[in-house]
Amino acid sequence: MTDTAHKPLLATVLGQQQERPPIWIMRQAGRYLPEYRETRARSKGFLDLCYSPDLAVEVSLQPLRRFALDAAIMFSDILVIPDALGQSVRFEVGEGPVLEPITPEGLGKLRPERVLDHLAPVLETLRRLRAALPPEKTLIGFCGSPWTVATYMIGGRGSTDQAAARLFALQHPQAFDKLIDILVQVSIDYLVAQFAAGADVVQLFESWALNLDEVAFAHQVIGPNKRIIEGVRARVPHAPIIGFPRGAAGNIAAYVAATGVNAVGLDYATPLGFARNSLPHTVAVQGNLDPLRLVAGGAQMEDRARQIIAAFADRPHIFNLGHGIVPQTPIEHVARLVDLVKNG
Ligand code: CP3
Repeated sequence: MTDTAHKPLLATVLGQQQERPPIWIMRQAGRYLPEYRETRARSKGFLDLCYSPDLAVEVSLQPLRRFALDAAIMFSDILVIPDALGQSVRFEVGEGPVLEPITPEGLGKLRPERVLDHLAPVLETLRRLRAALPPEKTLIGFCGSPWTVATYMIGGRGSTDQAAARLFALQHPQAFDKLIDILVQVSIDYLVAQFAAGADVVQLFESWALNLDEVAFAHQVIGPNKRIIEGVRARVPHAPIIGFPRGAAGNIAAYVAATGVNAVGLDYATPLGFARNSLPHTVAVQGNLDPLRLVAGGAQMEDRARQIIAAFADRPHIFNLGHGIVPQTPIEHVARLVDLVKNG
């Protein structure tokens, strides 16, 4: 792992508060940038873009050329794991991801042993980014957390309530646990390989931590994330890890305490006072501007950004959105936000 002294974002993850919060933006490489759309048009499809290091390095660096962001995140997707396991995954324009839904009987067809070979191009993207980035920029790797990935593997597509996966967990508990075990194991191997390839920190995207009762939250979210973090740290001691349990709401303190994340991403629905009162000062917080405030710009964006910075002024804080940036975001608003966070 590299020297943290020159990397304000990594230092913040590790609990060292900075004078101003460092900033990166969830999904910062993406369709709001014309140069992303241009590179995407040159690729043979979204997964081809993820598996072509030349193109993936280019799109990872695009947002850093425009804005004074403190980190690059490798360009890939959380659904490369089911693809690597041998499940059929397609990205349809305007429709999002479409997978061939997995059944209890179909679990035996998954191929965990081929995952790292299949993801070798993503690890090559990380190595090239490491070489290309200036020393003060933090390099972020990531994977989807098992529950979130399982919602797509079981449901076959995104949904608002994840009913297919929630019911599968209740009606086929053994098959569900087997699927989660596979995802935990391959995620540990993948994240360890990401650190070896040059990642400074990794983020676990638990984008569907909502809609779960506390029993399901403990079983499906806390347990698997904790096992991944323990498994990674057994091989990469003190590995810096950001957890993003979107929608965890009242479960957030239990998630932080049990998983051992260094930093926790807060979604934009999390009240600032609640976060301040429920989370220990030793854990860095990340977030949590509503992405639509970045679309609107002006006072709607700036006043709230200042509130967020003020609320977390007494603890390590990484400024970010409370979920991914959306395609209709005006580029000038991103530039203004980064300037406000960096310079007041
Ligand atoms: O810049 C970055 O953050 C790096 C790349 C990245 C992508 N997806 C690229 C992408 C990251 C970190 C992700 C994470 C991801 N992917 C999540 C977790 C974060 C979140 O937003 O909750 C999830 C749930 C996915 C699954 C996924 N991938 C969906 C639901 C979709 C379609 C809807 C959408 O947001 O576009 C994707 C496609 C996707 N992943 C695109 C990009 C740039 C757009 C596809 C395209 O260019 O055609």
